[in-house]
Amino acid sequence: MRLQSYIEHLADRLAGAGVHCGHGVDNVHDEAVFLVFGALDLDFRRSIAQQDRKLEQDEIERLEKLVLARIGRRAPTAYLLGKTWFAGHEFICDSRALVPRSPIAELIGNGFEPLFEPGSAGEPGAVLDLCCGGGCIGIACALRFPACRVDLADISPEARDLARENVRLHGLEERVSALQTDLFEGLNSRYDLILANPPYVSPEEIAQLPDEYRHEPALGLDGGTDGVDIAERLLKQAAKRLNPGGWLILETGYSATQLENRFPNTNFLWLEFDHGGAGVCALTAEQLREMA
Ligand SMILES: C[S@@+](CC[C@H](N)C(=O)[O-])C[C@H]1O[C@@H](n2cnc3c(N)ncnc32)[C@H](O)[C@@H]1O
Repeated sequence: MRLQSYIEHLADRLAGAGVHCGHGVDNVHDEAVFLVFGALDLDFRRSIAQQDRKLEQDEIERLEKLVLARIGRRAPTAYLLGKTWFAGHEFICDSRALVPRSPIAELIGNGFEPLFEPGSAGEPGAVLDLCCGGGCIGIACALRFPACRVDLADISPEARDLARENVRLHGLEERVSALQTDLFEGLNSRYDLILANPPYVSPEEIAQLPDEYRHEPALGLDGGTDGVDIAERLLKQAAKRLNPGGWLILETGYSATQLENRFPNTNFLWLEFDHGGAGVCALTAEQLREMA
């Protein structure tokens, strides 16, 4: 069987089985490409050139094992592969942390323009990725801004360990540290840019999530009452950690309205994305002082 035919056939099987595509892709065709290219270590950038490639029997057997786990157990493809891609970079990915899928990737790709000016003088020198999971957001930032120092922080020691493995994967040990903290507790620095994707799902919503999400650590999803308890705590503590002129970028997804209700006097700047996603706001140090 040829690669392209296998992918098309797989997409039909995934659709027929009713799998949920919410871990970095939003349709069964992309999910099939991700599974096949990831499992066979093929280069996504050469997808057209490889579409007529013949699949060997042992490759089909390897793929079928993954497909059975994807459909039968509803395991996310990234966990089955043990890796994923975020902001154009490869990361180790397993059930110690959520599968990376934040729209913040697009902001990193754009160098956070216009919040920060392009060129070394206008770029953030110190960055914090708070609630870092496997560290994808902070590591992608370190790769985008070659002079910046980055702290990755997460309350879960398992996520912190995975983040450390990803730091090593990218050879960034000199500029990027992974720490275990409860929000800002245990951090002493100030930052030019704080990026945070805290858990923001309410217990009622968690109960209704598709089975794929049950493979992810609950600590990465559960945002407490109406989803924004952790985000509220974070916003009340952030002012002391941000340098003048700095920005805090916070993702709260579909809990954006609940967050606005907690801070009725704050004028939230909700960012727009070309490649999908919403519910990400940008706040200045001055705004955070008023929210403390
Ligand atoms: C939505 S996940 C985001 C992971 C990663 N930043 C990403 O975008 O894929 C939220 C993360 O916040 C962490 N977390 C939950 N409560 C925390 C707290 N009080 N302090 C620090 N991290 C926390 C969880 O362990 C989880 O890894």
